[in-house]
Amino acid sequence: MTDAQDFDGLRALVTGGASGIGRATAALLAARGARVAVLDLDPSAVEKPLLGHRADVSDDASVRAAVAAAAADLGGLDVLVNNAGTGARGTVEDNDDAEWHRVLDVNLLGVVRTTRAALPHLRRSAHAAVVNTCSVAATAGLPQRALYSASKGAVLALTLAMAADHLGDGIRVNCVNPGTVDTPWVGRLLDAAPDPAAERAALEDRQPTGRLVTADEVAGAIAYLASPLSGSTTGTALAVDGGMQGLRPRRAAR
Ligand SMILES: NC(=O)c1ccc[n+]([C@@H]2O[C@H](COP(=O)([O-])OP(=O)(O)OC[C@H]3O[C@@H](n4cnc5c(N)ncnc54)[C@H](O)[C@@H]3O)[C@@H](O)[C@H]2O)c1
Repeated sequence: MTDAQDFDGLRALVTGGASGIGRATAALLAARGARVAVLDLDPSAVEKPLLGHRADVSDDASVRAAVAAAAADLGGLDVLVNNAGTGARGTVEDNDDAEWHRVLDVNLLGVVRTTRAALPHLRRSAHAAVVNTCSVAATAGLPQRALYSASKGAVLALTLAMAADHLGDGIRVNCVNPGTVDTPWVGRLLDAAPDPAAERAALEDRQPTGRLVTADEVAGAIAYLASPLSGSTTGTALAVDGGMQGLRPRRAAR
């Protein structure tokens, strides 16, 4: 088996799959043989062969309905990619309780709700895998990201706990930790900055590779973790961050 066809016959659900990292992941899994459903707040841009389902991961009833519909369309589920997420700026002083609840409800409880709804289907799969989109913010202290970082730190801890809980079910659980990825999300952040070009240069400079990560690079890492070829890989966090977490290069050495 090569990685060109490793998802043949498998069925995948990608949350937040209408844009950015999720969109690239859904397309890559489909190209490698999977039948793929996308769960998103706005699935209107999702094109065949991908199947779009509208749901809000912060609403349990809509998640249950969309997961059930996707599993019915696909005839089951083998792979779940928990990728939908939302951002937050500021220090611990800057966001009120309502904003903390809103972001945790999407970034953390969204993973809980989708996984809870998908587990009965995943338990019936011979190649079950869950991949969560976490962040370098879970493992490195970034300024002005207290709430966002806390939400992703919780996703990292949840990834490990779920990997332990579902070993016996034959379900592998891993996460990817991207650095700053060139997606519409980051485009919106740059547009909102006083000097978008300077902000982009600062974000590029923060990564040892000197450039932003691409959505396709994160999709490749997610596919690696989800693939039946990775049957011994569970409970890991794979950095896709241009060296941002682990490297301390001298500027001249780049
Ligand atoms: N872009 C980055 O620099 C970066 C870095 C690290 C981690 N991440 C994580 O990657 C994931 C995807 O980010 P992206 O950059 O591709 O963003 P994006 O904005 O391009 O795409 C996010 C998608 O998620 C959907 N979504 C948002 N909230 C939702 C909800 N409540 N229910 C259902 N769908 C919802 C949106 O409609 C959108 O289609 C997020 O979890 C984010 O935290 C992004």
